[in-house]
Amino acid sequence: MTDIRLERINQAAEYVKNIIPDIKPLVGIVLGSGLGKLGELIEDRVVIPYSSIPNFAISTAVGHKGNLIYGKLGGKNVIAMQGRFHYYEGYPMEQVVLPIRVMSKLGIKYLFVSNAAGGVNFDFKVGDLMIITDHINTLPNPLIGKNMEELGPRFPDMTRPYDKKLIQMLEKVAASKGISMKKGVYYAGTGPTYETPAEYRYFRLIGADAVGMSTTPEVIAARHMDIPVMGISVITNEAHDDYAEDYANDGDDVVAAANSAAEKMNILVTTLISELE
Ligand code: HPA
Repeated sequence: MTDIRLERINQAAEYVKNIIPDIKPLVGIVLGSGLGKLGELIEDRVVIPYSSIPNFAISTAVGHKGNLIYGKLGGKNVIAMQGRFHYYEGYPMEQVVLPIRVMSKLGIKYLFVSNAAGGVNFDFKVGDLMIITDHINTLPNPLIGKNMEELGPRFPDMTRPYDKKLIQMLEKVAASKGISMKKGVYYAGTGPTYETPAEYRYFRLIGADAVGMSTTPEVIAARHMDIPVMGISVITNEAHDDYAEDYANDGDDVVAAANSAAEKMNILVTTLISELE
């Protein structure tokens, strides 16, 4: 008997293939909060709204457009998610990671993930870009349930969640463009609340540099399928753990801060992708 979950992946992939019969993406891209602008740089593009793709959820998060975009970036074929699905929107994890599995079915060789995150590392400032070197996942693992052997092993290795070679390439590209980068560990919680001061302190204590509400499920799904991953967090707020009277975290500020880092992000990602084979 076929696995209904595999059927859902295949149906979505077939739908996309019907629209773009010669589709051959090298890189899959997930554009997070406020980072959707990069999608507009994709040339010769075909835009497919999530709402038209079988089994895709609807993007409800602020700053998430809800389009799958295929075309050329840095001269290479890419398929980008302009907006992602979050667990806090109420979707089961299978639906959160469905697009990653569909992109894999369509043939991606690399996955690039991006997000807006709160900086808990004291050295991080609003607008900084952080290369994700590792993560701490506290969302439900998307691989829970009967393993889909067709996709990957029951117990996937996570020793190299983010690809070392890709990190080195990113650092080189950043240096050549005069863009300074931080590096660090991304902590994923469920959201949708921002953290309490004690939680920010705790995450710093256990080794996190930035905190967000996404990304790790997608990375886990990609690593399950042995797809190399690279990721960048835009630091959109600095963790306030001093109970300051005059400060509050705000979703619109987060999207605005991510928007203002778009230029740097666009240069980095476009150049890096142009160097991938
Ligand atoms: N916490 C969680 N998610 C976030 C934050 C934060 O401080 N900033 C942007 N996304």
